[in-house]
Parts: sequence; C-alpha cells; structure tokens
Amino acid sequence: MRTELNNYQNNLPLLSLDKVSFSWPCGNKALDKCSFFIPRPGLWMLVGSNGSGKSTLFRLISGMIQAQSGGFLCNLKPALMFQNPDHQLLLPSVESDVLLSLPKTLTYRESRECVKTALNQVGMVHLASRPIHTLSGGQKQRVALAGALASQANLLLLDEPTALLDPDSQKMVIETVKGLSQRIENPITVLWITHRLEELDHSDGAVRMESGRLSAWNSGSELQKQLNPLAGRRV
Ligand SMILES: Nc1ncnc2c1ncn2[C@@H]1O[C@H](COP(=O)(O)OP(=O)(O)OP(=O)(O)O)[C@@H](O)[C@H]1O
Ligand SMILES: [Mg+2]
Repeated sequence: MRTELNNYQNNLPLLSLDKVSFSWPCGNKALDKCSFFIPRPGLWMLVGSNGSGKSTLFRLISGMIQAQSGGFLCNLKPALMFQNPDHQLLLPSVESDVLLSLPKTLTYRESRECVKTALNQVGMVHLASRPIHTLSGGQKQRVALAGALASQANLLLLDEPTALLDPDSQKMVIETVKGLSQRIENPITVLWITHRLEELDHSDGAVRMESGRLSAWNSGSELQKQLNPLAGRRV
C-alpha cells in the first residue's frame, strides 16, 4: 500500500508541497523543507508529537500564512476546523450558523436549500432550529462540518476534531467524515490531525510529522506498528 500511495505522486496531486519552509516571526522553524502531497479524495491522517508543525501546516494550506520557500500547489477549496467547536460556531442557532458560511451571492431560497443540504449531509437536519448551546460536543462538531460543506469547501482540514469528544461522539464524527470522503458524487478530501492512534484504522493513508517534516505515506496500521509501543495511547 505504501508503494501504491507514494507512486501516486506521478499523477497530478490535489495538493502538494515541495520542500516548504516556514518560521514564525519569533524564529521558531515550524516547517523545514516539508514535502507532501494528497493523491486523491479520501480520509488522510497526520500524527506527530506536540510542536512538530502539524497545525502550522494547516495554517499554510488554508492560506492564513505563506511559505517562505519551496513550492505549494492546491487545487481544492480548504476549510479549517478546530478541536473546540465553541471557537468556531458564532451564531445562536444551528441554521443561522450554517447560513453564515454560505457564499453571499445566493438568493434567500437558494440559501435555505444549501443549509438544508449541508445539515442533511452530516445528519443534523432535524436539529436545524436548535440553539447551539443545547447541542452535545459531537453535534457541535457536525454543525461546524456542515458550515464547512456549505462554504463549498472540498478540502476539510480537521485539527484534532475529536480531542474533546467521548467515544460515541468520536465514532459519529469519524463515520460522518468517512462517509463524505467516500460518497460517489463529489467525494471530499479530508486531512485529519490526531493524537489518538486508534483513529488511524479509519484512514485511507497516514503520515507522521517530525520536526517540521512529513514522512512518506503509510497505511494507518503500518504507522500504528511503527509507533509501538505507544499504539493505543495518545502521542
Ligand atoms: N502563532 C505562533 N507564533 C509563534 N510560534 C508558533 C505559533 N504557532 C506555533 N508556533 C511554534 O511552531 C512550532 C510548531 O507548532 P504547531 O502548533 O504547528 O505544532 P503542532 O504539531 O500542531 O503541535 P500540537 O500537537 O501541540 O498541536 C512550535 O515550536 C510552536 O511553538
Ligand atoms: Mg496543533
């Protein structure tokens, strides 16, 4: 699988970084000649110790910061999602929050339709009128996902999306995201940062970030084996 995935680089990737470096103004070198590509839509996972550069990579892919050297190509529309949905959901109700993410060019009727479609995709349409503060953590994460989908993003950058969730909500969010990445029509591309090694089982491929550099693609199970004896624990 490793070879199969890494050979994909010969095709036109959806996203690629070629020896990208980035240092924060204080001098922290967060990305160091980092090379990486995403071959096709799917659920792709990224692991690595604290401070290794994962969130910095997401900021770069989402356009919040620019590479200081190296090549960067992205043929997808990204949306960034954080581990705490309370940092992301701004309006009082489910429906109004998703509405905020829509392109401003839509008519009222189109907007309502888009909100419904996005909520439907994450199994939350029945809770459209619920106040946000009455939702569980997992439900809030799915509303944040609906917002990303409504913005017409086709690359979801999920930074430890299940870190604050209990096992049931964690399962629900993984299944929702996996389903979106596998659907026949317009499958989305997901890049998922995790410290929970058991989540690698759900991935289509996984990479490890170390000191600002990413490894080649592995299967989730291969990477779990490499990370033994830590497998099953948080890294
Ligand atoms: N806004 C910032 N200003 C200055 N330095 C930063 C900033 N954000 C991150 N860094 C530094 O960049 C390096 C990489 O940090 P980053 O947040 O990307 O790591 P991470 O892999 O996401 O870690 P974690 O697993 O703890 O979330 C660290 O040395 C960190 O201190
Ligand atoms: Mg981080």
